[in-house]
Amino acid sequence: MKPQALPERVAVTGGAGFIGTHTVRLLLASGLHLLVIDDFRHACGEPVPEEVSLVRDDISSPAARGALLEFRPQAVVHLAAQGGVNRSLRDPAADATVNVVGTVALLRAAVDAGCRRVVFASSGGAIYGRARRLPSRERDRPGPLSPYGAAKLACEGYLGMFRRTFGLDFVALRYGNVYGPHQDGTGEAGVVAISSTRLRQGLAPRVFGDGGQTRDFTYVEDVARANRAALASSFSGALNIGTGRPSSVTEVVGHLCRLAGFDGGPEAMPARSGEVRSNYLDPARARRQLGWRAEVELGPGLALTYASFTAPVPTQSAPAGASSGPG
Ligand SMILES: NC(=O)c1ccc[n+]([C@@H]2O[C@H](COP(=O)([O-])OP(=O)(O)OC[C@H]3O[C@@H](n4cnc5c(N)ncnc54)[C@H](O)[C@@H]3O)[C@@H](O)[C@H]2O)c1
Repeated sequence: MKPQALPERVAVTGGAGFIGTHTVRLLLASGLHLLVIDDFRHACGEPVPEEVSLVRDDISSPAARGALLEFRPQAVVHLAAQGGVNRSLRDPAADATVNVVGTVALLRAAVDAGCRRVVFASSGGAIYGRARRLPSRERDRPGPLSPYGAAKLACEGYLGMFRRTFGLDFVALRYGNVYGPHQDGTGEAGVVAISSTRLRQGLAPRVFGDGGQTRDFTYVEDVARANRAALASSFSGALNIGTGRPSSVTEVVGHLCRLAGFDGGPEAMPARSGEVRSNYLDPARARRQLGWRAEVELGPGLALTYASFTAPVPTQSAPAGASSGPG
């Protein structure tokens, strides 16, 4: 599909978070005027650039609504969310309050502000559930196993309704397992960030179960580029954003151990009940519709990430030679 011009005025919710920080930097470098809405409940610690208009409040607050009405963005990149799958299982209602009700309030405010398009951060890892065949494609029937995944699917449903009823166009980007600099390494999820943090502390990384679980590890700057490409596209619907390649937890942790010069093996932990064994995404539709493909391969991506946990964070893209398509 032919790319259109980027909109000039864009609001980014969750712009102080992990993916948001990379996305805001890329959109600023592309010359866009940005409004960030983030209440900093899980900000990644990187400062929001001062040329960005910032509202430090909940996405469903009157302040956020007022800022949208005043800023009048042509598009919204909606990244703000309660991102913990385990937390969503412990308290599904709290998860839905942020991830469903907050999203609906934001969409209503976006319509009232004259916004025409939403790029929504959905989840390829959480929406498909126990896939009958792999890699997962967008037309496969979703089967989320967590309230977090159910909320992402519910939001895709609301987005379809907002398009039909209010003319608000959308693209739901179903990201794989995103990793990279600035990810929180102290939480329950994000094996790359958590293992990097432990290795930096001289501790063995932990592997739950036999480590043979596979995921579609997708570098954060590739995800930021997908967000930008989705802003410049007229495609409407869901797109997988992943590498198309499965990598096992053992492979990823082993690679990080080598980067850290860590000799001991990982600490074996009991398998997590209900964990999906294998999950990876077919990104062919994103390639066709956005001209997007993952460019940063796992090895260089892990090297950039590990370096960021031990030294000042690199802001460059992957080094020359690191790029190749998902195959
Ligand atoms: N990281 C991944 O692997 C991954 C994979 C698939 C989808 N996603 C989705 O991508 C988006 C961004 O993820 P991330 O990893 O950058 O998460 P993150 O937690 O690092 O960033 C989320 C940001 O949103 C803010 N926020 C949360 N709730 C808010 C609210 N109610 N009002 C205002 N601000 C709020 C937080 O303070 C934080 O800065 C989320 O929607 C997440 O569900 C992430």
